[in-house]
Amino acid sequence: EIPSLKKAFKKAFNIGTALNTAQIEEKDPAQTAFITHQFNMATPENVMKSAILQPKWGEYNFEIADKLIEYGKKHSMKINGHTLIWHSQLPSFMRNIHSKDSVNTFFTNHIKTVAGRYKGKVFSWDVVNEALNEDGSMRKSVFLTYLGEDFVTEAFRLTQEASPNTELYYNDYNNEQPAKRAGCIALIKKIQNAGVRIDGVGIQGHWHVGKIPLKEIEESILQYADLGLKVMFTELDIEVLPRDFQGADINQRMTNNTALNPYPNGLPENVQQQLADDYEALFKLFLKHKDKITRVTFWGVNDANSWLNNWPVRGRTNYPLLFDRNNQPKPAFYKVIALKK
Ligand code: G3I
Repeated sequence: EIPSLKKAFKKAFNIGTALNTAQIEEKDPAQTAFITHQFNMATPENVMKSAILQPKWGEYNFEIADKLIEYGKKHSMKINGHTLIWHSQLPSFMRNIHSKDSVNTFFTNHIKTVAGRYKGKVFSWDVVNEALNEDGSMRKSVFLTYLGEDFVTEAFRLTQEASPNTELYYNDYNNEQPAKRAGCIALIKKIQNAGVRIDGVGIQGHWHVGKIPLKEIEESILQYADLGLKVMFTELDIEVLPRDFQGADINQRMTNNTALNPYPNGLPENVQQQLADDYEALFKLFLKHKDKITRVTFWGVNDANSWLNNWPVRGRTNYPLLFDRNNQPKPAFYKVIALKK
């Protein structure tokens, strides 16, 4: 039997995965068995985003999200709701909303309805996702434009009201990098100074092979924990395709929709090894700070499920996770599991 990540790190932190619709619907019992053996928390990869939950103004579709709640109950997995307020994957009707009143109505009703429905059913919410630019300033979005900077604090206040016992997180990528981290810290302090509760910060952790910013990650763990917050790695994966597969001619490739597979014979040995070393270094760091880190979630169960197969272009063959396309452990898995606590 393949060793279990959730068991190996039981004394350190929870181990989560993103789940897609097919996995939530348990189309494949062997896949369910594999998932529940490895992970004790789940984040919906897409099914709790606003476009899916509220396809038409005021009309909600909770079908798959409810199934996820059942899945969590049945398999004793805690659910992290993802995500209430995000500028992306918004309902298409939001493209036609151009007034402060309407944006505010959407914002308020969406949070109240969704957080209210899953009160006591999700363990936590990514209340606000990706509100910052790389330089630490607020990202332009429909929420910033019409509601102003305070929309972030307001989102936390409304979620807390609708679902008082749920942990509330701010989630972003690259927020381990100094400038963005400074912006993130300022945002968190603003929420706290308003007397509104925030329980944790998610560092997504979409990194590149051979380029893991270990120093910045460690500084971030310490600085976020200093604010009294739980620190989580919420969407971990390590991109392995060469830089030029997402470089200069990206626009041309976006329109050509070319299938790209630089490694038709599988991941080369040296890259496989570097991936393993990177995951090992990361988990060593996570374990060093296990008193501050409550969860490490992978963004997908195995390489076949990863969003990185379809970004920045569709149809790539990527290898960013610990398990291959047949759920077989990769060298990276064995390096990580050897660190067992
Ligand atoms: O479901 C439709 C399908 O009906 C349609 O035929 C197909 C063709 O376009 O698209 C399908 O929807 C796609 C969806 O994933 C489900 O596969 C969307 O186009 C695609 O945009 C969407 O991508 C998701 C992406 O967020 C959207 O921004 C990825 O799966 C998901 O992994 C990714 O997750 C985000 C986190 O939420 C936030 N942090 C970054 C992370 C990676 O981008």
